[in-house]
Amino acid sequence: MYPFPADYCFPHNRWYIAAFSSELSDKPIQRTILETPVAIYRNSSGRAIAMYGICPHRYFPLGLGKIDGDALVCPYHGFAFGDDGKCVRIPSQQTGAGYYQPTYPLVERGTLIWIWMGNPEKADENQIPDYRKFGLDQPGWAVSGHDYIQLKARPQLLVDNVFDLTHLPHVHNQVAGGDSLLNSDQEIEELSDLVRLTQVMRMPWNPYFSMLWGEESRFEEIRNVYAVSEFFGPELVSISGPIARPIENRNMPPEGGIGEVYFIHGITPETKTTTHYFSIQTRNFRVGDDEFGNYLGASDLVIRNQDKTVLDELEKWVDYGSSRQNELAVKTDRMSLKVRGVIQRLIDAERMPITDTRRAPEFKSPAPTP
Ligand code: FES
Ligand SMILES: [Fe+2]
Repeated sequence: MYPFPADYCFPHNRWYIAAFSSELSDKPIQRTILETPVAIYRNSSGRAIAMYGICPHRYFPLGLGKIDGDALVCPYHGFAFGDDGKCVRIPSQQTGAGYYQPTYPLVERGTLIWIWMGNPEKADENQIPDYRKFGLDQPGWAVSGHDYIQLKARPQLLVDNVFDLTHLPHVHNQVAGGDSLLNSDQEIEELSDLVRLTQVMRMPWNPYFSMLWGEESRFEEIRNVYAVSEFFGPELVSISGPIARPIENRNMPPEGGIGEVYFIHGITPETKTTTHYFSIQTRNFRVGDDEFGNYLGASDLVIRNQDKTVLDELEKWVDYGSSRQNELAVKTDRMSLKVRGVIQRLIDAERMPITDTRRAPEFKSPAPTP
């Protein structure tokens, strides 16, 4: 299965975005994550809980249940499960039969809920990408967007998409300046916690800059304009908008300039061929301008849905095509290929031995017997 092994096509020992914080309440939601159904909700103290989403009795989806006190209650026959998964009530019996429903580590950080579907002993919160690198929930930064898109396409198609921006003039031709990406200088850096692609273009002021920074920031000369794409893992990519500054230094990430905007891509496998796509923008200019933030969010959503149209179509053909010929890889595929190598190494590290780390729920006790 393109481009990773069909029996193990994404790493499990990662923190993935399960939901936006705003999606969670005392009314559970049911969401399939890494091929596993999960019920996610807030308990009576507001803490986010994630539990295996299939009732052990007759396999009803628990995310359609309701919260009663601190228990999640299956709506079919009323079995109830506490925060730790312990079955606390079987209405037809006096006990919970000593049964535990599997639960998953969750971390709520800012506006995002992160879930760990892999080996729980390896769940280390410090592995969640450092928000300071892209402004999410940081002082001096504004956040907009928070849109959820379901892709009928495998996660890697989105990862590949965001690292080859030469599709801009074709897929997003409403965005001015996309052509300049065709001739950009590119530099790839592999750092300790991320892989960075910096694309440098030399550009004059254009209508996109007017929309983004406002006419008052207009410059007359040709400037270096940077687009910085950072891969934190298969679960998160940030792509900067144009960063313009008058100095030329290819050995450090651009800082300052007129203002920075980041388009955050949260990428969570749903199944092998479908993806939860979480969209956010962050910026450190026009911070109090909500009208601009709303406009930025709306225009970004148009762009992401254009990508969805392409990727959903691509999903229908990619196995057919890739089973018959190798890709015709070109210069601008360097970053995608680099990133695939990183993901493949993450997968390989988990697969050995395969039975130790797969994410299939581990049940602490057998199903109750009558
Ligand atoms: S299916 Fe859940 S209690 Fe019966
Ligand atoms: Fe795109």
